[in-house]
Amino acid sequence: MRRKRDAYTEIAKREGLRSRAYFKLKDIDERYGIFRPGDIVIDIGAAPGGWIKYSLSKIGFDGRVIGIDQREIEPFEEPNVVTIKADILGEGIFKSIEEQLGGEKADVIISDASPNISGVYEVDTEKIYDLNKRVIEIADRFLRPGGTLILKTFQGRHERRLVNALKKRFRRISTYKSKVSRKRSSEIYYICMGFIKPRKRSCRRGKRGEHQS
Ligand SMILES: C[S@@+](CC[C@H](N)C(=O)[O-])C[C@H]1O[C@@H](n2cnc3c(N)ncnc32)[C@H](O)[C@@H]1O
Repeated sequence: MRRKRDAYTEIAKREGLRSRAYFKLKDIDERYGIFRPGDIVIDIGAAPGGWIKYSLSKIGFDGRVIGIDQREIEPFEEPNVVTIKADILGEGIFKSIEEQLGGEKADVIISDASPNISGVYEVDTEKIYDLNKRVIEIADRFLRPGGTLILKTFQGRHERRLVNALKKRFRRISTYKSKVSRKRSSEIYYICMGFIKPRKRSCRRGKRGEHQS
């Protein structure tokens, strides 16, 4: 397992893929067929840029990527990438995205955003849930009808509430656990396809329910 993890890091480094996370998105895309040439992609929690790199390889020069992170993202040579250095929990984020989209909507929103892990379960799950709620707000405003969201979260606390919020907004939801993730990581990804405008906008309260996986 250790050898496998190191291999991902090695290959990512050798091939200039920026991060081993590149392979997670590649695997998700190969399973679920996320990207189309010409897509507009918003990548949330994008640093150092592995997911941007992979998205670019699929959407071509007709598409574009807006990468957002509170950390600096080293510039890309490709002209169809813009990056925003910002905390997504800040209110200014909506205006910043709106400016970059220039009236268009995103075809795909991908979020690998996660807090620094404290190791305290309650703290970490609370923090990622705050990020998850904000990503859903961003999707509500900027994802086109029929669009796709990939959302990272931690298993356990808040998961049902999160799934209920997603079920109000997407026709099909699948869960994905990556073989590239750290051995003891509780991270999972929701692959949400077929965006529909939610009847209720809040994702704080939800009815009990099951989801497909
Ligand atoms: C696992 S890394 C993302 C790796 C990236 N997908 C890649 O392919 O290279 C998670 C990122 O989420 C970002 N992040 C966490 N909280 C954030 C916030 N409130 N606003 C913006 N970015 C945030 C972190 O700075 C970090 O770069």
